[in-house]
Amino acid sequence: MCGIIGVTGVDDPLRMLLDGLALLEYRGYDSAGVALITADRPGDGSAPVDGAEAQSAIDRHHSIWRERAAVRAQSIPELERLAPTAPAARAGIGHTRWATHGPPTESNAHPHLDCTGRVAIVHNGIIENHREIAAKLDAAGHQRTSATDSEVVAHLIEDELETGATLLEAVRRCAGVLRGDFALAVVYAGEPDTLVATRRTSPLIVGRTDSVGVVSSDIAAVLGTTRDLYALEDGEIAQVRPGSITVIDAAGQAVEPLAIRVSWGVQAAQRDGYEDFMSKEIHEQPRALTDTLIGRILPEGTTELEELAFTEDELKAIDRVIVIACGSSYHAGAIGALALEAWARIPATAEIASEFRYRDPVLDERTLVVAISQSGETVDTYHGLREAKRCGAKTMVISNVVDSLMAREADGVLYTRAGPEVGVASTKCHLSQIILFQVFALHLGQLRGTLDPHEAAAIGTQISGLPGLVARALDRSDDYEAVADELAEVNDVFFLGRNIGYPIALEGALKLKELAYVRAEAYAAGEMKHGPISLIDRNAVAVVIATRGPLWEKLLANVEELRARGATVVAVADEGDEETARLVDMVLPVPAVDALLSPVVAVVPLQILAYSVARARGNDVDRPRNLAKVVTVE
Ligand code: F6R
Repeated sequence: MCGIIGVTGVDDPLRMLLDGLALLEYRGYDSAGVALITADRPGDGSAPVDGAEAQSAIDRHHSIWRERAAVRAQSIPELERLAPTAPAARAGIGHTRWATHGPPTESNAHPHLDCTGRVAIVHNGIIENHREIAAKLDAAGHQRTSATDSEVVAHLIEDELETGATLLEAVRRCAGVLRGDFALAVVYAGEPDTLVATRRTSPLIVGRTDSVGVVSSDIAAVLGTTRDLYALEDGEIAQVRPGSITVIDAAGQAVEPLAIRVSWGVQAAQRDGYEDFMSKEIHEQPRALTDTLIGRILPEGTTELEELAFTEDELKAIDRVIVIACGSSYHAGAIGALALEAWARIPATAEIASEFRYRDPVLDERTLVVAISQSGETVDTYHGLREAKRCGAKTMVISNVVDSLMAREADGVLYTRAGPEVGVASTKCHLSQIILFQVFALHLGQLRGTLDPHEAAAIGTQISGLPGLVARALDRSDDYEAVADELAEVNDVFFLGRNIGYPIALEGALKLKELAYVRAEAYAAGEMKHGPISLIDRNAVAVVIATRGPLWEKLLANVEELRARGATVVAVADEGDEETARLVDMVLPVPAVDALLSPVVAVVPLQILAYSVARARGNDVDRPRNLAKVVTVE
């Protein structure tokens, strides 16, 4: 969840690190830090590393300058204040932290140093055997200064360097000792123009221009410098120098790094005048959906998913689909599974990836496991995907990040085209996942002959119209904000829905919890009578998903039960549906659409509700407390 950046071969590495950290901050904002290899004599930044004389000159004239700050969401401005006093340097690394081991204090902030103060490391992930390593290091006399799992890496590298190893070799040997998931970037005062990077599970990219080298956990942080980027594979180690990248595998053999295709511009990662990324991303949803659909639904409703890389026969042979994902992506999966069963008549279920991974699932080559992940990095989903492969299932990923970790792992991939999502709470990527899954379900329905051409064409036309309906829903933002004003002080909200309305309710509740810090629980409305209804009294507030689907009347019966017990009821309802409006206290109106497609529009008012209540409470909507955009630890 932490962000990593490194740069070499520039006149002002601190500026680049701080700008990069600002773009990475969504990954973790408990604390941040930078380390520069300082050239005490101006111009020494890229001194040679061969020869005893040259080495001793380097030792005399290079050292590490490190600064860290642990002021939640304000650490980068803290570091900015030090910028004018920073020494001359040509290379450095930076980190923004989401605390796992050790509280978010300055001493636990990265970079961490070895005992000599000449090695600095930044780390994302968890070193599972850190206690065992730390015990050995302590017994050998190393002085550790933090409570993190990460610091052991600096000391292990220190030991390897003392044997005369180069930094690249020292990192290779150190990585061999580590258990767990990690992305690491390392600098050493003895090799002042070199960055060394390695990874296992946690992603890391490297890049170069003719005179510069970069390392980062995210493409967005280095896109302003270069598009000549490469993804490190599990276990690979890269030596990045100004203008050059050398990559070796865990055995020390040279390997060709994997070039990354980048379709985003730098601008796409900026705020475009909106007050925060979340509102920008909510308003970008029509475009994100349109882009995701381009070329995938043809005018007569037929689908085109060539990039999926499965043959028609392979797809026809599938007899069961399991969707695995976390959080909002899981809700998208639950919605997609219902569409798949309805249109393609394949048994389909959605499962929480962190549970799926450990339950020893029964799968075979006729099972398709679809992992949904905006980032393509979420560790639970990634390991679920690997487990599915291990069990012999076919695998497919829906991701927003081209060539992401999961995209490279799965047999097939479909990309949403939402552009970078920076706000921690998923909005445009969530809707794009839903619509892309709907296209996939339509595709399978056509392929398997479970939809006749007329039905398929009608569904295709409706899907194509969804971006416009989302724009229409966004035009009603004032209505949604008015409801949010009424609910700004509420501390407990129920979200209720049936069938396709249930995952919508789950998403509405998650958004309100994570952004507004309001206790919000979602229930399948029919389940209320089996227990939760005893919580309903005059103080209760319920948001019901009451758009007109096959279970609309049954849902209204549930609403009557709430009203009879004095609850305040807010309904997401079709525009102009007076009957529903009469029965409830407040309405969040959305354009009417077929029930199975309704989540794409019905989620919009719930996003705005959560956003507006959060803002009314003074919360940071882009960086809600305790959360990180990309969850790369279990
Ligand atoms: C909620 C949210 C999270 C993510 C979840 C999975 O607003 O954003 O629940 O959906 O962490 O992330 P990805 O899709 O990157 O695997």
